[in-house]
Amino acid sequence: MTVAEPGLATRLQSTGAHALDLDGVGRHFGALVALSGITMRIGAGERRAVLGSNGAGKTTLFNTITGDFLPSEGRIRFFGEDITDLPTHERIRRGLRRTYQISQLFGSLSVLDSVYLACRGVSRRRFSLLRPRRDDVNMAQAELIVHATHLDDDRERQVATLSHGQQRQLEIALALAGAPRFILFDEPAAGLSPTERRDLVEILNALPSHIGYIIIEHDLDVALRVSDYVSMMHGGELFKEGTPDEIEQDPQVQEIYLGGGHG
Ligand SMILES: Nc1ncnc2c1ncn2[C@@H]1O[C@H](COP(=O)(O)OP(=O)(O)OP(=O)(O)O)[C@@H](O)[C@H]1O
Ligand SMILES: [Mg+2]
Repeated sequence: MTVAEPGLATRLQSTGAHALDLDGVGRHFGALVALSGITMRIGAGERRAVLGSNGAGKTTLFNTITGDFLPSEGRIRFFGEDITDLPTHERIRRGLRRTYQISQLFGSLSVLDSVYLACRGVSRRRFSLLRPRRDDVNMAQAELIVHATHLDDDRERQVATLSHGQQRQLEIALALAGAPRFILFDEPAAGLSPTERRDLVEILNALPSHIGYIIIEHDLDVALRVSDYVSMMHGGELFKEGTPDEIEQDPQVQEIYLGGGHG
């Protein structure tokens, strides 16, 4: 994991296809339109923030990208390949990741063993529930990931004893297992202290530059510091996009965020 953080243009030049290409994606639940007409292109290595009030459709957007449920309309391409109808595990195999809640299964394992198992699980067909032997290439990767997510001091601790903030860091660590090309972070700063937020910003900004992501975030300060570009959603639709500077200066955004009207 390097700390190098080349500019967006450099990162976009390094590869041809977009990481994600959404074309008219929509999703309804009965009569409720949760997502409608979402067209967005995200370059390889690009970091995108998605902002919006509660119920705007942000998590639904993630669910259609990961395959947790299929869109009602529209197509989704991942590095040029149409993945709209692929099952979730096939998307994971192609390098798509999402942060998730920590499984009870790992509660009694150490931080390092959890990350090790995640690395082994991605690199092999199945991962064993036996306590892992720390003797192969996956352990080397796990150690790098634990370091990159600022968990070195806690690597031998049981997952169940971690603070909320450390558990969020571990979720990021698990998403980094294998060879991710693109990660979806759903509100990783939720419930974090100011110090933990600073840590999170550092961790995200130091991720290898080829790994792109979308971060859903209610904290404008965090969102603007970890993204190249910002998309704003409301009522299931995209209504504004811009650079972090443009979004910060935007009167409507200032009204929403400084006026305390957001979720
Ligand atoms: N599985 C589901 N079944 C029915 N309605 C759903 C389902 N998932 C989401 N919705 C509805 O879709 C709309 C968008 O929800 P979504 O969770 O995507 O919002 P969000 O932007 O992530 O909000 P938050 O900031 O609160 O997390 C909401 O009205 C929600 O109630
Ligand atoms: Mg949500």
